[in-house]
Amino acid sequence: MKILIPVFIFSFLFLFHAIKATYPVVLMHGLDQNATTIKPVINWIHKYLGDDVYVKSVEIGDGFWNSFFYKMFDAVNEFCSKVKSDPILKNATKINVIGHSQGGLIARGYVEFCNDPPVHNLITWVTPHQGLFGFPKEEYKWLDKILQSSAYIKEIQDTITVAQYWKDPLNYNLYLEKSIFLPYLNNEIADKNEQIKKNIMSLNSLTLVLSNVDDIINPKESAWFAFFDDKFQNIIPYNETQLYLEDWIGIRYLDENKKLNFQATNCRHEDLPLYCESDFVKITLPLLK
Ligand SMILES: *[C@@H]1O[C@H](CO)[C@@H](O)[C@H](O)[C@H]1NC(C)=O
Ligand SMILES: *[C@@H]1O[C@H](CO)[C@@H](O)[C@H](O)[C@H]1NC(C)=O
Ligand SMILES: *[C@@H]1O[C@H](CO)[C@@H](O)[C@H](O)[C@H]1NC(C)=O
Repeated sequence: MKILIPVFIFSFLFLFHAIKATYPVVLMHGLDQNATTIKPVINWIHKYLGDDVYVKSVEIGDGFWNSFFYKMFDAVNEFCSKVKSDPILKNATKINVIGHSQGGLIARGYVEFCNDPPVHNLITWVTPHQGLFGFPKEEYKWLDKILQSSAYIKEIQDTITVAQYWKDPLNYNLYLEKSIFLPYLNNEIADKNEQIKKNIMSLNSLTLVLSNVDDIINPKESAWFAFFDDKFQNIIPYNETQLYLEDWIGIRYLDENKKLNFQATNCRHEDLPLYCESDFVKITLPLLK
């Protein structure tokens, strides 16, 4: 008996510790960046959760250039195979995933089409979930110009990442017909993929972070699954979109089960993985514990 009690306590502590263990974290960077740019996030995770937490920053193609020029579905597949072939991740029971901007679409693609190992908490920072229409910032004017005139031309779709989630609210049917990525990711197509919905519904939580001062994606509310109406005048809130009302991808289910979190930050779009440590601590860190 004297021996059994400490053994019992020890086992209990061990079990408790095992339950509390943090899942590995996988990061997916955004446009105009590479897997190294997001390094501050790796440092923050280690600073607050300890060096033992495994963090992988996934690269797609060569990183920087391929964040502009790639097929988004190839990026999703590459993300899946990089997770699946990682010696630590492939043994994980679950993972937490953070996607920045475009990286959030790739991360959501992972959940919808692979999810092996399954994602526990998915966190997207300033991700244009409903697509974007307009790329206002001066340094991207060249891209905006191409997309305004030619986003739905096949060669552009096959080449430019942003074209594949460019959604012209005044030409919705053209978008549905020609876009090779977002209508599938959002299950907007007539032939709905039920597995997508199941996989999103299996998340413990989905956290959507919007930047109040976002001048890169238009509209910034796309980060919260909102988008322009078909007259390009007002923004339709997430819960008045068809995607939500008919629950094409399980977002409504998450919302009704209090698993959908809306967060806002005053950090700039491009700064989130670099300089916004206090927002990271406030919004993202609790989800990684
Ligand atoms: C990745 O980005 C970092 C800084 O953001 C830069 O210093 C580095 O040269 C880039 N690497 C590649 C291979 O593009
Ligand atoms: C992963 O699991 C396999 C099979 O159980 C095992 O052989 C391998 O050593 C594990 N890898 C790591 C890094 O723990
Ligand atoms: C949509 O969500 C907002 C914020 O949660 C809420 O105030 C509003 O009542 C909802 N609208 C509908 C139509 O459910």
